[in-house]
Amino acid sequence: MSENFFDLISSRHSVRSFKNDSIPEEKINTILDAATKAPSGGNLQSYQIFVVSNPSEKERLVDSAHGQGYIAEAPAVLVFCADPKRSATEYGERGENLFSIQDATIACAYAQMASHNLGFSSVWIGSFDEEKVSNILNISNNLKPVAILPIGIANETPEVTPRRPLEEVTQKI
Ligand SMILES: Cc1cc2nc3c(=O)[nH]c(=O)nc-3n(C[C@H](O)[C@H](O)[C@H](O)COP(=O)(O)O)c2cc1C
Repeated sequence: MSENFFDLISSRHSVRSFKNDSIPEEKINTILDAATKAPSGGNLQSYQIFVVSNPSEKERLVDSAHGQGYIAEAPAVLVFCADPKRSATEYGERGENLFSIQDATIACAYAQMASHNLGFSSVWIGSFDEEKVSNILNISNNLKPVAILPIGIANETPEVTPRRPLEEVTQKI
C-alpha cells in the first residue's frame, strides 16, 4: 500500500486558469493510456475519448459550456463520451443507460489523476450543452458526451475545497 497515492488524491484541486505551455504528445498518450486502465463493464470500454487541441474547436467548446473560457486556455482538452450501444450489446438497457456512462466517467477520473501525477492541472466540466458538443465532435447519437477535461499547467493557486464529513456521506449498516 502506498501513502503516495493518498497524497496524490489529496493534492489534486480543480484549476480554472492555464498557462500557454503545450503538453508533449507523449504525455497526452500516457494520460490516455491511464484512462484505459480504468475498470469498465465487461471490459468493453464503452467510451470514446476525443483530444481537442485546435483553437477554434476549443472556442466552440467554450460556447457549448456556457462560456467557461478556461477550456480554450488549456493546451489539451479531452472529451469523454459514453458509447451506450456498445455496452447494450452485452448488458441491454442497464449497459445503455448506466454502464456506458460509468465507463466514460471512471476513465475521465483516471485521466484526471494521471494528469495530476504528471504535474498538470485540470477541471472536470459537466455543465455543457450536449447537442452542441456532439456537433463539434461530429458524432452521431451513438455517442453521448459525458465530461470535458481541460488539461494544462496551472496559472493560479487553486482553492482547497472542503469535503462533507464522513459521518454525513456514509452509513454503516
Ligand atoms: C460531475 C461534475 C461536474 C462538474 N462541472 C463543472 C463545471 O461545469 N465547471 C467547473 O468549473 N467545475 C465543474 N466541476 C468541478 C467541481 O466544481 C469540483 O470538482 C468541486 O468543486 C471540488 O473541487 P476540487 O475538484 O478542487 O476538489 C464538476 C465536477 C464534477 C465531478
